[in-house]
This record gives sequence, C-alpha cells and structure tokens, in this order.
Amino acid sequence: MPHIELRPGIHWVGVNDRVTDLFEGLWPLPSGVSYNAYLVVGKKAALIDGVKAPFAEELLENISQVLDPAELDYLVVNHMEPDHSGALPLLRRLAPKAEVLATPAALPMLARFYGITAGVRGVEDGETLDLGGKVLKFFHIPFVHWPETMATYEETERVLFPCDAFGGFRALDGVLYDDQVDVREYEDEILRYFSNIVGMHTRPVLKAIDKLAGLPIEVIAPSHGLIWRKDPGHIVELYSRWARMEGRPEATLIYGSMYGHTRLMAEAVARGVRAAGAAVRVLDASRVHVSYLIREAWKRKGLIIGAPTYDGGIFPPLERLLRMLERKRLKGRVVGVFGSYAWHGGAVRKLVEQAEKLGWQVVGEAGFQGAPTPEDLAAGEALGREVARHVREG
Ligand code: FEO
Repeated sequence: MPHIELRPGIHWVGVNDRVTDLFEGLWPLPSGVSYNAYLVVGKKAALIDGVKAPFAEELLENISQVLDPAELDYLVVNHMEPDHSGALPLLRRLAPKAEVLATPAALPMLARFYGITAGVRGVEDGETLDLGGKVLKFFHIPFVHWPETMATYEETERVLFPCDAFGGFRALDGVLYDDQVDVREYEDEILRYFSNIVGMHTRPVLKAIDKLAGLPIEVIAPSHGLIWRKDPGHIVELYSRWARMEGRPEATLIYGSMYGHTRLMAEAVARGVRAAGAAVRVLDASRVHVSYLIREAWKRKGLIIGAPTYDGGIFPPLERLLRMLERKRLKGRVVGVFGSYAWHGGAVRKLVEQAEKLGWQVVGEAGFQGAPTPEDLAAGEALGREVARHVREG
C-alpha cells in the first residue's frame, strides 16, 4: 500500500507482511501481519516505529512519497523488537542527520543489536518534542512487552502511537481503520496476538492503560493491525478485559488422544457442559497449534483438560500447552481434568498438580483405565456439568 495521510501531517508508511510463516519463529501467521510505521511532519519530520528488516526498502519507498528520507530529523523507536527496529541500519545510512530517540533502557539494545551508539538520545518519561506545528510527547510503558517500551502521543492531532499495545495479527486487507471493517472479524486474531505476545505482561498493560487514560485520544495508531479512529475506546476495553483475564462464562475443552479413549471421554464431558447450559469449544491439542489453544484458553472462564498418561506423565501436547499457559501467566480459570491410562495412571494427578500450581480452581477430575465404560462416561458428563455450574455461577 502507498502512504496514507490519516491526519494532516501524519502519514501511515507501514507494510503488510504476508510471507513470514511464524511470528517470532513461534506463532503462525495465516492472515499475515502489518508493521505500521508513521511519519509525523511539522517543520521537522519524525518517523515513529519501523518495520522488519526485509521490508526496509518498502518502508523507504513509502516515506519517499512524502519526503526525502534524508530530510528526516528524528527516528522515534518506541520498541526495540526487530519487527519494528529492523530497518534502523538502512535508515541510519539514508537519514544520517536524524537523531534516534528511545527510552534510556533502549540505548544498550541499540548498541548491541545494531551497533548504533552515536546520534542517539534517551527521552524522559513525559518529555515533549516540538516539531514545529506538531508536538510529540513520550510516555514510558515498560514491559509492554519488553522493558524499554514507550508510547508516543502527538498533541495537536491527539494521536497515540502505542507500538505493540492495542495491536493484533492479520495484515491490513486494503483497509487501515476500524470503521472500514467489521471489527468482530478481526478480534480473534487480535486476541491471539495479545495472548501469545503480550499476555505474560498483563499487569504492565493495565498500568499503561491507567497511565494513558487521561490523554484526550482521538486516534490509536498501533504498530500492528487496525488504526482505531471511530472507536478507540473499544480496543482499550478489549485489552483491558483480556488483561484482567475474566473469561466468558463458557468452557474451553482441550484434549489429546492416542487411540480414541480420551476423545470419547471428551465428547461426554462436552455434552455435560452443554447440558448444564454453558457453551463449550472442543479442541484437539495434537492437531491445533498451541498459539490457538492459548487464545481459546484465554477466552473462556472454564478450562477442561483431557490427557492420557504417556511415559508416566501428561500426554506431551497437553504438557506443552500447560507449560505455555504457565509462562503466559493465565490466571483465574475454573478447571476440570480427565484422561485414560493403560496400566498405571499419572496424567490426571499431574494435571491437578499443575493446575493448582497455576492457582486455578480445580472442581473435578475423572481418570479411567482403558476404554471408558458407561459409568466412566457418566462421570465425564458430571465433570462437564460441574465446570459449567461454576463458570455460570461465577
Ligand atoms: Fe511488534 Fe514486540 O514487537
């Protein structure tokens, strides 16, 4: 896409990435992702955020539609992760007079990542920069989701550039703004981004939301995904709700199965949840990427895990999921566990231990040997009803 002027003197000059398979080498990108960069032009010009290195030429082409990159006065680095900072070495060469502005915590990273030590300045929290007709103000928001992060606010047009905060997966399909799409179609990919990338740092997210709450914001322009100009409050509310990890009063049932016994039990547990009046989403951990499993676990208050015993422990796809949920620090889940074993149990006990270690409320368990009997399946249905009862009653 060519540059787009989103407010007078403020231009989107970012790129869509539809070729990277795994974001951070981990998270699938079936619908791509955008790296949003912005030009703010007064008497002086600043570039806010950047793009991943392979897209540097495209960024420069977009900048060139507005001004000669050599005329840039400032490169504002809100965040050092290379999906935004990767074009800095090239920008440095083509815009030699531009001063690099970042938080003091980012300066050692600039040196170690790119060898950039000259023409760099650490900006203070609350510092302003008059560009002549445009005024930037910097807010440190550490650990959203790296320690050096900041948000930049343009005072005259009331545009907030919060970098990763309020961003999401999914490239911009010929659009830029929230009022050009049905936002609900984007929310799953925004939540997947939030839970996969930012989820571990929910407290800093809430702190940042509090810190920025007093600003008269008309547009939120994050570094990934849609720009929010019709209803910036909506993305703040979504991020705030997800950071509080409330979850819908429904259940996510994630299971693994080697020979179908735990799968049969999963069907019974799901019937129990529905019979008790709660919605349930069932996912096979062997076949659905953990990125999506994390998102679905984030979405709902109830979490039901089914795993056969494998090597005396939890079936590996579920073990991996639990490890990831521990790293992402998902809290406040009402949990039920179940699973089969061949000659000696182990998985169900370890699932309970792991759930309790994570601070989740375990409301039931159902282990069984071999193929589930009618009595086992009835116990599974009862487990589902119990989880549903707890999530519905809050
Ligand atoms: Fe979009 Fe943390 O980088």
